[in-house]
Amino acid sequence: MGRTLFSGGTVMTADGGYRADVLVEDEKISAVGTNLNPEGAEVVDATGRLVMPGFIDGHTHMDMPFGGTMTADDWHAGTRAAIAGGTTTIVDFSLQDAEGTLDGALQTWFGKAEGKAHIDYGLHVAITNLTEEIKAEIPSLPEKGVSTIKIFMAYKGTPLYSEDDDLFETLQIARDAGVLVMVHAENGDVIARLTDQALSRGDTAPRFHALTRPPEVEAEATNRAIRLAEVAGAPLLVVHVSCAAALAEVHRAHERGQTVYAETCPQYFVFSYSDLAREGFEGAKYVCSPPLRDEWNRDPLWRGLQSGDLQIFGSDHCAFNYEGQKELGLDDFSKIPNGLPGAEERAMTLWTEGVRGDRISEAQFVSLLSTNQARIHGLYPRKGVIAPGADADIVLWDPDLTMTVTAENRHGNVDYTPYEGMTFHGGPTEVYVRGRLGYKDGEVIAEAGSGRFIERSFEGPAIKSALV
Ligand code: URP
Ligand code: ZN
Ligand code: ZN
Repeated sequence: MGRTLFSGGTVMTADGGYRADVLVEDEKISAVGTNLNPEGAEVVDATGRLVMPGFIDGHTHMDMPFGGTMTADDWHAGTRAAIAGGTTTIVDFSLQDAEGTLDGALQTWFGKAEGKAHIDYGLHVAITNLTEEIKAEIPSLPEKGVSTIKIFMAYKGTPLYSEDDDLFETLQIARDAGVLVMVHAENGDVIARLTDQALSRGDTAPRFHALTRPPEVEAEATNRAIRLAEVAGAPLLVVHVSCAAALAEVHRAHERGQTVYAETCPQYFVFSYSDLAREGFEGAKYVCSPPLRDEWNRDPLWRGLQSGDLQIFGSDHCAFNYEGQKELGLDDFSKIPNGLPGAEERAMTLWTEGVRGDRISEAQFVSLLSTNQARIHGLYPRKGVIAPGADADIVLWDPDLTMTVTAENRHGNVDYTPYEGMTFHGGPTEVYVRGRLGYKDGEVIAEAGSGRFIERSFEGPAIKSALV
């Protein structure tokens, strides 16, 4: 692959920006500075652009069964969408079969990714059945390059749901194994009751998805998970925080000094309950969990990102077609598969609303999308930084690029986009994965299968103080 010199751009890191060139040799960054020797290098003119570490999305669901159907994006389509949004690494959820092992889940997901991934990837395991065999298997995860486990407190009545005792024991075992537990924090029992009650009243429309999962249900479960982690003496990552009430529980934990990481997602900043309440069955296009909230929640979420209570911005990319998939819930909102596409729109949403909206700095943009993701998801310092020795995952970002979203210009495999008609300002022009050009001006160049599995290792609670 040889040498590539990115010249004339502004290197933007989680600590700020500075004028420097970046020299890449084969798959790694070899030098960052001025007056670098260009001999034998292909020179890429980065003038007018920000040179950022490739974005990392620690929350995707590719080719995953959910609600009796499969996500519309497999690893081919889903990683095309991701790289078109500047993402060079995803961490996807491999689901344990109720009777299967964690290694079985990993092997299944390796099979799904094989020959299809356009970008690098890691895998979480989602535990659905904490048997004695699974308890004994958890300590082997780090040697397999897996540093995270997800537990679902929601989705009662499906194989995903876990009881508190299983969450608690997973936290204990994971603590000793050096593995980080992630939770989907919504009270599954209360949601199940509210759903039954709504359906028996004949309240079947998509908006009842949100009305049967109110913010208090998320806040209660967030607090419960945090307190269980406190009792277990374990760090915790709360994913897809959607509302002020749940964020307040994360903030209280931080005031106590507890190690709790928290993620939020783009959909909570650009959509709201009013989208779920759209005419006819249109609201189904906006069904995800936790659900979209009233707009006033956005300002507190921005404050959470500014203060560091929320450290990462993941997509929760979990795409379903409208036709034949969202339509499964035409007569019953509880049958609408939960999830939205967002891997392609994640960074552009954060730039447009956050950086251009004067809510976060360019450096915070890099930490939320890349550096903090790398630290929490165990990829640092191989990924998440522009520094000698790191993988040459590089995004050339044009702060003035303008793009209007339509289903036709998306790179995934979904028959609609919830972002239809939205205009983004700022976006990637070129994306490099380990030194190789993978995306340029709207076109995905990376070959299917060129993405590699990346082993991850959780650094432990000490990383809290290093987060930027
Ligand atoms: O609606 C969502 N978020 N679907 C994906 C599964 C999950 O809970 O993360
Ligand atoms: Zn979830
Ligand atoms: Zn998810």
